Amino acid sequence: MNLPLFVSCNGELSPVGEAHVPIRHPALLAAFGVYETVQVSQDVPFHLAEHLNRMAFSARQIELELPAEPETIGTWVPPLLAANGAPECLLKFLVYGPGEGYPPLCFLWPEAMPRYPEHYYTGGADAITVAAERTLPTAKTLCTLVNFLARRQARRAGVHEALLLNNAGRVTEGSNSNFFVVREGVLLTAPAASVLSGVTRDLTLRLARQAGIQTGEQELPLAERGTWEEAFITSTSRHIMPLAVLDGKPIGTGRVGPLTRRLMDAFVAHFREEVSP
Ligand SMILES: Cc1ncc(COP(=O)(O)O)c(C=O)c1O
Repeated sequence: MNLPLFVSCNGELSPVGEAHVPIRHPALLAAFGVYETVQVSQDVPFHLAEHLNRMAFSARQIELELPAEPETIGTWVPPLLAANGAPECLLKFLVYGPGEGYPPLCFLWPEAMPRYPEHYYTGGADAITVAAERTLPTAKTLCTLVNFLARRQARRAGVHEALLLNNAGRVTEGSNSNFFVVREGVLLTAPAASVLSGVTRDLTLRLARQAGIQTGEQELPLAERGTWEEAFITSTSRHIMPLAVLDGKPIGTGRVGPLTRRLMDAFVAHFREEVSP
């Protein structure tokens, strides 16, 4: 089945072919909008409240008034999933900000879940670093050109992900993921003030602490990569994906590390609990 069949706009369902944004909509040129991606499994949107709260947090940062409260937007999800017959999907939320006679528009639609090669999880994926900085890095806005170009570079290089390297030579996050390393047994990731605080990132930090793993939020200079024992990326569609190779060279042993493996197992257990309690 090709998703989506139906799209929701401010809570009203319409066939996908009838959902349009006017070409002169101010959100298109200025990227004045925010978005979210939520995994749905067995009809359960995984951590929906966290995603909707983050959407509100992103919107506040660009002074965009959402067309409805996050709780109300959440009520638009079940009818959309039912209309599309999509118990397993990746749910997109796109809010086009208002302006010049246009109201704010919140579109929701389901897409097929991406499938990543199994060997990324068993042997680790590969990535390159790309000099790039996101505008308003703590907000998930429609201004995603930098991410898009970085991802295109990764694709050209034949690797899975592009890690963004800022002007100070620090790895901040992936093009659409957060980045973690393990150093001396401590799990480290860039501070929430300098990256998108991913829902999966925050959950991973929580699961790590619950498992008694020491965590820290600090800058990750690429020059210190020799001290990284393990590395992985996190995102809604990937969950925890180990990274084995960066810029053509192995990270640590170049294999999935023991702490990464523990966290992946903890994540799987948490996911099962949430979607099939
Ligand atoms: C720049 C960036 N960082 C991190 C993430 C991961 O966020 P989440 O775990 O909420 O999917 C994304 C997801 O799209 C992203 O675009």
